[in-house]
Amino acid sequence: MKRKILNINIGVNIAINAALALPPVALMFKQWRLRQGQDPEKDQIGYPLGVFRKHAGLLGAQRAHGLRGADVLEIGPGGTIGTALLMLLAGANSATCIDALPWAAGAQVDRFSIDLIAAAAQDPANHFVAPEWQGSALADPTAVANLLVKRIIYRAPESINTTTLPDASYDCIFSHACFEHFADPATAIAQIARLLRPGGVTSHQIDLRDHRDFSHPLEHLRYSDTIWWLANVRLPNGVRNRWRASEYYAAFEQQGLHLVQKIESATQIVTAQQRQHFDRHFRTMTLEDLGITGILVVGVKQEE
Ligand SMILES: C[S@@+](CC[C@H](N)C(=O)[O-])C[C@H]1O[C@@H](n2cnc3c(N)ncnc32)[C@H](O)[C@@H]1O
Repeated sequence: MKRKILNINIGVNIAINAALALPPVALMFKQWRLRQGQDPEKDQIGYPLGVFRKHAGLLGAQRAHGLRGADVLEIGPGGTIGTALLMLLAGANSATCIDALPWAAGAQVDRFSIDLIAAAAQDPANHFVAPEWQGSALADPTAVANLLVKRIIYRAPESINTTTLPDASYDCIFSHACFEHFADPATAIAQIARLLRPGGVTSHQIDLRDHRDFSHPLEHLRYSDTIWWLANVRLPNGVRNRWRASEYYAAFEQQGLHLVQKIESATQIVTAQQRQHFDRHFRTMTLEDLGITGILVVGVKQEE
């Protein structure tokens, strides 16, 4: 029964995707999606605090002085500039966000940004709060939010694939739950390599599951490339590529981004029998590779 529903879903996906070829439908759909916003769980300060701790810890560990003085780029922040704000609180020199869709209202001080600063200041060691901000963030988070928010550059709509931000202009580039939505991840990785300074560091949490139904995380591997393309290519938040962990690892390394961390953040068992039902592209892959459903990669751009 479940299978039938999922098969119906792919038909619905194809129909929606086809309708999105019509500009007025695409515009209405985009406006509707933006009104809907992102997951409500992401409206709680715990979400950007957690995303920040993860990436700041990994990026900072590859640099002599953590985030201090770094020019940081976040790809696809979604509904909040909070993670970028915390990067500045940790001593970054600048924080830029680019997103294919303008989910966030832009860089503005609101209750959320003030609460984020206050929460980080309560536990400065865990949030890498720079010494010069520790006292003031605790005593007057509103004043600190006012000072830091105006230093955030928010550019949307702007895609990582086509951005013309200058070569070698960032020390740190990160994204969280974004790469699986890129129609062309190879170009995105080439762009990251272009934008990073030599020695710069990049971290990406990538969710490799079929997002239509997390209880069937590998269902999407059954379809041919054509069917998947027809079902997803115009859906702004669809899983637009189905790259597996090994494909990501190879693409980062090919662009001169040496992977110092390849963390398998989620795995499941895949049997040879299950693999037989996948599209032929996936049938040549190892069961271990196919069973990786989430990765966190950290790469360092090789010095020339
Ligand atoms: C699932 S959301 C994740 C948002 C946020 N990072 C989080 O953890 O909640 C994926 C984000 O990637 C953005 N995105 C998708 N394709 C993009 C592209 N080519 N360039 C920049 N951002 C993109 C989407 O607009 C969206 O904000």
